[in-house]
Amino acid sequence: MTLWGGRFTQSLDSLAWALNASLPVDQRLAIQDVDGSLAWADAIHKAGILSDEEHASISLGLATVKEEFSSGEFSFVPSDEDIHTAVERRLTELIGVTAGKLHTGRSRNDQVATDFRLWMLGTIPLLEAALKDLQSALVEQAEAAFPHTNPSPLGRGARGEGEPILMPGYTHLQRAQPILLAHWWLSHYWPLQRDRARLNDLTARVSILPLGSGALAGTPIPVDRVALAESLGFAEPSPNSLDSVSDRDFAAEYLFCATMTGIHLSKLAEQIVLFTSSEFDFFELSDAFSTGSSLMPQKKNPDVFELTRGKAGTLLGLLTGLLATLKGLPSTYDKDLQEDKAPVFAATDTLLAILPVIAGALRTITVKAERMRSAIDATMMATDLADYLVEKDVPFRKAHELAGKAVRAAGEKKVSLEKMPLEAYQAIGPFEADVVQVFDPLRSVEKRNAIGGTSLQSVKDQIQKIKGV
Ligand code: ARG
Repeated sequence: MTLWGGRFTQSLDSLAWALNASLPVDQRLAIQDVDGSLAWADAIHKAGILSDEEHASISLGLATVKEEFSSGEFSFVPSDEDIHTAVERRLTELIGVTAGKLHTGRSRNDQVATDFRLWMLGTIPLLEAALKDLQSALVEQAEAAFPHTNPSPLGRGARGEGEPILMPGYTHLQRAQPILLAHWWLSHYWPLQRDRARLNDLTARVSILPLGSGALAGTPIPVDRVALAESLGFAEPSPNSLDSVSDRDFAAEYLFCATMTGIHLSKLAEQIVLFTSSEFDFFELSDAFSTGSSLMPQKKNPDVFELTRGKAGTLLGLLTGLLATLKGLPSTYDKDLQEDKAPVFAATDTLLAILPVIAGALRTITVKAERMRSAIDATMMATDLADYLVEKDVPFRKAHELAGKAVRAAGEKKVSLEKMPLEAYQAIGPFEADVVQVFDPLRSVEKRNAIGGTSLQSVKDQIQKIKGV
């Protein structure tokens, strides 16, 4: 049984049938398909197409179909071309020929777009929740890296209980300036916050109802599409039937959101891969989130982070694939559009698999604070050395040059900047005895106290902003 046999004398070639069928992919829309049909039955009943008895029979039948899907009892048959066919076939088995009235004024073109959007409206909150949980893991780590007592004021001498964890910050993967580990953790929080905002923003464009557009030109049934939209939880009906059956912007945008998240996770993953290597040795993964080597007994591999990095590439491929499919299409529905669902489902499954694992791995990671601290050396305060001269009214350009000379002189003398004698400094510029203070990394951190900087107060403000207090 196909939905379109009337004008054909021959049945479809079996290989062509298999190519055409989309059930393996779109059976995932089963519940949405039934919900859309229930709402459509209500709409055409109100429009006078279904009698009260027909409406009751169809609604009851659809409720049974939905129950069968929910309980896993539904069985597909080989002739089920797609989920819409399967639902109608089963409904016919349950209630007989009345089932044939359900499709009045409707097309699979507006139906599939409706199902897909409904599915997405239900899935975005799941992605958001997974993102939110990973953000919580990052904030927990940031707070753990923050001093709980006695936040240090600028120039504090004694280090005690309240010591914040310091680490080198990098540009070009070269040690650049000292930062708070908490600041680093939170640097991975904000990209995910933007990802959530993007998903939220997308929701408004997903929430447009295609149903009632017919195949392309609109439905001849006088259905109240505003009420229909509302009954399915959409914000409003689509304003143009031609556009609405072919609009897959929401799918492309969703894939962009997924890819952007993938890229953010990849960046985090790459840093964890580096920072867990013996060369950095800033973190150690818990056994529960690392893997061994079949050959080398000593290995502890960051596979979950490498996979995260790798899957970002796969996500990007899904996005470009769909965009390429959409690029060549004329207006309204074309069968190419059947290619829209697989990448969206794959991207969703990928992110829902990665996000909780990364959250778990970060919650259980060991921070090697001593290693991080010892990776900070005085040359990383060379900018502070220039800033020191700026405070003594040397223009920054000149100060930069003099600090550079100091770095070179220390290199030539084979001493570190903080050990270089004052006379050597004074031969270069207007340095005084207080220059040694510059090489305290906590002082360097505390100097960066404007909004968004790495000082304790700025990071505290970030945490407060996150927590909304
Ligand atoms: N399986 C199709 C899809 O996913 C449903 C719409 C089919 N429409 C049609 N005119 N054949 O796009």
